[in-house]
Amino acid sequence: MTSEKQTLLGGESSTVYNHRTSTKKRSWLMIILESLNILLVGTLIFYVYTKDSTLADSTNGGVNSPSTLDPSSKKNVIFMVTDGMGPSSISLARSFKQFRDGLDIDNILRVDQHFIGSSRTRSSSSLVTDSAAGATAFSCGLKTYNGAIGVYPDKTPCGTILEALKLQGYYTGLVVTTRITDATPAAFSAHADYRFQEDLIAEQQLGDSPLGRVVDLIIGGGRCHFYPNSQGNGEGSNGCRADNRNLIEEAKADGWSYVGTRSEFDQLDGGKNVTFPLLGLIADTDVPYDIDRNPKEYPSLAEQAKVALTALSRATEDSDKGFFLLIEGSRIDHAGHHNDPAAQVREVLAFDDAFNEVLKFIDETDTDTIVISTSDHETGGLATARQIAPDYPDYLWYPEVLLNSSHSGEFLANKVYDFKVNNVDGDKYSSLDEFLTREIFENDLGIKDYTHEDIQQIKNAGVNKEALLYTLNNLVSVRSQTGWSTHGHSAVDVNIYGYTNSHALGNELFQSSPYSGLFGNHENIEIGRFMEKITGVNLDEITKKIKGIKHHPQVSEEEIEITSKKHTHEMIVENLE
Ligand SMILES: *[C@@H]1O[C@H](CO)[C@@H](O)[C@H](O)[C@H]1NC(C)=O
Ligand SMILES: *[C@@H]1O[C@H](CO)[C@@H](O)[C@H](O)[C@H]1NC(C)=O
Ligand SMILES: [Zn+2]
Repeated sequence: MTSEKQTLLGGESSTVYNHRTSTKKRSWLMIILESLNILLVGTLIFYVYTKDSTLADSTNGGVNSPSTLDPSSKKNVIFMVTDGMGPSSISLARSFKQFRDGLDIDNILRVDQHFIGSSRTRSSSSLVTDSAAGATAFSCGLKTYNGAIGVYPDKTPCGTILEALKLQGYYTGLVVTTRITDATPAAFSAHADYRFQEDLIAEQQLGDSPLGRVVDLIIGGGRCHFYPNSQGNGEGSNGCRADNRNLIEEAKADGWSYVGTRSEFDQLDGGKNVTFPLLGLIADTDVPYDIDRNPKEYPSLAEQAKVALTALSRATEDSDKGFFLLIEGSRIDHAGHHNDPAAQVREVLAFDDAFNEVLKFIDETDTDTIVISTSDHETGGLATARQIAPDYPDYLWYPEVLLNSSHSGEFLANKVYDFKVNNVDGDKYSSLDEFLTREIFENDLGIKDYTHEDIQQIKNAGVNKEALLYTLNNLVSVRSQTGWSTHGHSAVDVNIYGYTNSHALGNELFQSSPYSGLFGNHENIEIGRFMEKITGVNLDEITKKIKGIKHHPQVSEEEIEITSKKHTHEMIVENLE
């Protein structure tokens, strides 16, 4: 690591990392005990790892494959992000699923079965990170400030793992459920001083970079930043670019194949009918929450992942390089911001299904493949408990309330608004009270024991969609006894999961010392460094090549803070329009 980068890790953290080597006096007994400990843990991990995986059965990459890492050998790297998912989201979703499906207590989530460690998430500018700094920690392997997209704290663009692997000959892909121009996918495929520069991010994602095009496959939402405000996309909605460019038309002219609807997505034939590069923009902004998603209109994250895995593995079949794929369960974060437990458990389970697709792929492929899955941060300060009365609380929470709730607060806020303002369903209900009790409480939320105060709370929110959203979600949270401490992010450590069919990659993954493997507790930047290590690329080389990329916003310094704040808020409420 260059001294420049070491400095950027922050003085505070480098002392932490160096504490092992700086300990001058270590007794022999200590050293023997430590070695024994490492040996024991190592044996145990190897046992658990080989027992659980299908290593022994796999034809290639199995126990007979080399056990030492060859960074240049063909491999696939799948990096999965659960945006805003803390450990309590997992507990909530796991118990919800067990309740819903009548499962035993040892019937756990797919990710649970591949837990390997945890990640500390702070950014260079705050103990509480945002997704931009969080994703840049993974993509560039360095700490930067909240809002930064693939740039150092001094705003120098930093080479990303996706760019480096593309230059090595890997195929690359991004699969998300939010806008493709949002922070996580952006930090791998673009460089911008601030995450609100989504128009610029879209341009870079299509290849406006000194490196040329670095992304081969895009599937996600965020069509909005690819076409101008002045014209529709043929479906009656308007784009949100500030300029007059239609990047979708430009991309098509440039050789991209474009997919904008569910039926066009289906023509990809599960990934067997993909022409590269592929631009799949399946929603104007976010793909709807899984709890609200109409499968006839939108594919699931698992379906998106399957298309990407199939297409990328076919494209690299005869290559001596594999692929790099980012898959994000993007909207776990939004459900956290909304304090919406009913939507969140379904988002986590939809992610778990996508994780399962990846596991199936790894077990079937002959190519050495590794998946690493983690979160950038936790959102909502979620607790799987809530004290709802002054008396000492009972130890419980009620998953049944989340099961009875059949829509997100986001969906229902729009629905209440539409009744109040546009008289939608006005023919079915004679009054607001009747609409709220029959339709919203009984039908949508599955709440039969609503009170006069509950109804009054919704009435008090008027036609303010955000107030409606929070009021509706609070009704569900209080009843299920789910606790939230913020509408923003929190600083809690998040989990790291991993799996591989390769003996050598497994040995790397389960190393525990800093900047070595990912077993145990790690700084988030180590995850980026780990991907750099196993693929043998040098991100500093990429940093030199992208110096000239345009990354500053075209707004004044004074406007930046206002625009940033406004943008953060808009992202949370954008589907309430
Ligand atoms: C493959 O995609 C093309 C469009 O790119 C489409 O015309 C064709 O019907 C698709 N094939 C299948 C099997 O879906
Ligand atoms: C959930 O819905 C069922 C069926 O309508 C009802 O019997 C039950 O009381 C509801 N549970 C809660 C906690 O509201
Ligand atoms: Zn967030």
